[in-house]
Amino acid sequence: MTNLEEEMENKSGIKKIAVLTSGGDAPGMNAAIRAIVRSGIDAGLEVYGIDDGYKGLIEGKFHLMDRMSVSETINRGGTILGSARCKEFKNLEVQQKAVEKFRELGVDALVTIGGDGTYQGALKLTRLGVNCIGVPATIDNDIASTEYSIGFHTAVNTAVDAIDKIRDTSNSHRRCSVVEVMGRYCGDIAYAAALATGADYVITADIGFNMEQIIKIVKKCQKQNRRHILIIVTEHITDTSDLARQVEIHTGYESRATVLGHMQRGGTPVWYDRNLASRLGTKAVECLLNGEGGKCVGIFNNEIKVFPIEEALKMKKNIFEGYPELTEKLS
Ligand code: ADP
Ligand code: F6P
Repeated sequence: MTNLEEEMENKSGIKKIAVLTSGGDAPGMNAAIRAIVRSGIDAGLEVYGIDDGYKGLIEGKFHLMDRMSVSETINRGGTILGSARCKEFKNLEVQQKAVEKFRELGVDALVTIGGDGTYQGALKLTRLGVNCIGVPATIDNDIASTEYSIGFHTAVNTAVDAIDKIRDTSNSHRRCSVVEVMGRYCGDIAYAAALATGADYVITADIGFNMEQIIKIVKKCQKQNRRHILIIVTEHITDTSDLARQVEIHTGYESRATVLGHMQRGGTPVWYDRNLASRLGTKAVECLLNGEGGKCVGIFNNEIKVFPIEEALKMKKNIFEGYPELTEKLS
């Protein structure tokens, strides 16, 4: 027996598992589904896909998957299973209804692919007797139990590509571009994209919004006779169009706002997200085969780790420490 086969030995006695994707979709979710389906089948399990996240789960939308049902998906963005935001799933009675669906179909355990909201659902189901393992997938990178979540690298690349294009036109017209990126309340996309695009200033929830500081930076760039000025801001902090207007009013430097929006969630996953998804998906199945539940998988220093979800939800991380200072220093 090879090491890999030993790892995938079924110590739990489970026979049927399911997989769902939930919350905002992220590039690489399909690679994770593929890894779960194929490593599950290799271990002798039946693997069911559930459509549309927890919403599909309570509606009983289970379907048996085979190796071929995930072929030609490793390179595709979005999620072949569909996703949904299902508020009702926070109610105990709805969670109990979901458990009944598992019992009816004889499905023993579940892999949930999503963000921290999805982890909460997985924890509740585990407490009700269905072992669940969470796989981190969200462009926001706001899950502290992994350095990187599936989809983050692709989203940053998409944002960088778009910002490079904005820079071409901004430079031609001697303008200040204010670009809003996603991230919900997490600044990681902004931090990574700002350093990679040579931005002049980055605004995130951690840094806070300081109009005086922004005006000071723009005036400094004006003094240097810059052809373009670039400010990157995380969503939900301010009205980005108004920010661009204020910059123009207070400095006289022509300014434009761009909100990148959902384009950051789509597109072909980059190699990192595909590889991460393949490794984390496989590890999630291994955990279920070991009889584990209420846990989530993550990556630190290129090593795959497993944490209890309860602990994961309390963890804090700051992997972009020093990035805003370096961005400003190099601008
Ligand atoms: P993400 O998983 O990316 O954080 P959401 O916050 O939208 O995305 O959560 C995804 C889904 O997880 C929600 O639509 C809901 O069905 C479920 N969920 C979120 N919070 C809870 C909770 N406290 N208890 C049970 N289920 C939850
Ligand atoms: O969580 C991913 C994300 O794209 C966030 O960056 C953003 O705030 C949110 O989802 C947008 O959600 P919706 O697709 O429901 O508009």
